[in-house]
Amino acid sequence: MIYQPRILIIDDEPLMRISITDALVAEGYQVLGVESGREGIDFISKDNYDIIITDLKLPEVDGIEILKTALKQSPKAKVIMITAYGSVDTAVEAMKQGAYDYITKPFSMDELLIVVRHLIEFRRLEYENTMLREKIDEKYAFEGIIGNSSKMEEVLEKVKIIADSASTVLITGESGTGKELIANAIHYHSARRDNSFIKVSCAALPETLLEAELFGYEKGAFTGALKQKKGRFELANNGTLFLDEIGEISPAIQVKLLRVLQERQFERLGGTETLSVDVRIICATQRDLKKEVKNGMFREDLYYRLNVVPIHIPPLRERQEDILLIANNFIKKFSAQNNKHIEGISPEAKDMLINYPFPGNVRELEHAIERAVILGNDNYIQPKDLPDDIHKFYDDSTTLSAMVAYAEPLSKAIDHFEREYIIKALEESKGNKTAAAEKLGISRKTLWEKCKGHGLEKTAKVESH
Ligand SMILES: Nc1ncnc2c1ncn2[C@@H]1O[C@H](COP(=O)(O)OP(=O)(O)OP(=O)(O)O)[C@@H](O)[C@H]1O
Ligand SMILES: [Mg+2]
Repeated sequence: MIYQPRILIIDDEPLMRISITDALVAEGYQVLGVESGREGIDFISKDNYDIIITDLKLPEVDGIEILKTALKQSPKAKVIMITAYGSVDTAVEAMKQGAYDYITKPFSMDELLIVVRHLIEFRRLEYENTMLREKIDEKYAFEGIIGNSSKMEEVLEKVKIIADSASTVLITGESGTGKELIANAIHYHSARRDNSFIKVSCAALPETLLEAELFGYEKGAFTGALKQKKGRFELANNGTLFLDEIGEISPAIQVKLLRVLQERQFERLGGTETLSVDVRIICATQRDLKKEVKNGMFREDLYYRLNVVPIHIPPLRERQEDILLIANNFIKKFSAQNNKHIEGISPEAKDMLINYPFPGNVRELEHAIERAVILGNDNYIQPKDLPDDIHKFYDDSTTLSAMVAYAEPLSKAIDHFEREYIIKALEESKGNKTAAAEKLGISRKTLWEKCKGHGLEKTAKVESH
């Protein structure tokens, strides 16, 4: 939307009023000129103006009255007073009461135009900022997070409640469930939204680099530290720091982080100056941090510092009602991007999507739909447009259901199923028994015994190397 400034001129001298109006219209502004203070007040009460230019001395209702009305009815409007030479004192008084500026008669039109242009430029920037803000808000607003399952509504409700506080948030959820999207939403709905939102992926960097990245360093702190560098904590001051994949940080960094969380203070690497920061921390992890604490991999004290507000995003398979809703949104997005006209999803493909467990969650669904939109040559997405992983899932399940042919007693069928299931777990963990046992939710010892029982010792043993 283009910003169109509106100006109201109130002056009882026709010549003055008309020449100002003409000069401002020539600049491209929307201008309305009126001859009495009463009329002026009428218009101010009915409409919004960016600038009000008024003669200070008017019969009946004067410039001060107009200023008072404007301040009350249209607080965003800026009032410029025109005063006669000799009544500067009154003009100064008007400024004290809230007028933006005054100009003394006689004046050249250029003088007035400079004041107006300056003001308009300022208002335009202000306006553009608001528009930009709204756009960003829209991008990260809850509307950008699709889902109407009760589980997702619960998550969003919590986000709304806690966004504005400064509490540390721990977002958990499987890969691709939307942890980063939620972190964005929290920042952009908090009072900190005009300040920085700094992200650090803790898994992407080795320990020493991560430390330097988080806390910064002084010149000469280590080989290659040619000049001082600010860390992410400093850059996020007054804003939000998003520590992604927090479960991956080393014990040494855990200690340092704990101190910042407790004291909001730290030193740059190689530095002696203690820096204080005001940073809101949001962390995310796919890991079960509580379990990591039990296993001694994650400090318990740090866990409690981070887990002040826990937000768990359930996997897509636990909120099937969101699948088609999200899929349809992605169809719109990717159709527009690729100039395709896909209208929806065929009933067969719908069935396949709803019942597929989506190990990669929303990201996997997003990629599946993007691919289907690009490949599809029908108005509706067909099963053949869906990726191999989805087809493979159904092929495998068919094998399983084919196995259950009611040809054997239940105990035998269960036995059969267990054997197949264990083989699959071993295959998927590439023979790693510990991983397979974890997948199956049993101990290594139980797995070993079951393998023996099913005649799978060899498989388990050979492949475990
Ligand atoms: N509810 C949702 N509505 C719309 N898009 C979503 C939703 N949840 C996730 N997405 C989209 O799915 C993709 C993955 O989301 P995101 O990166 O936030 O997940 P993540 O949990 O951080 O993943 P990872 O664990 O792999 O880092 C993004 O493109 C994101 O925009
Ligand atoms: Mg992520």
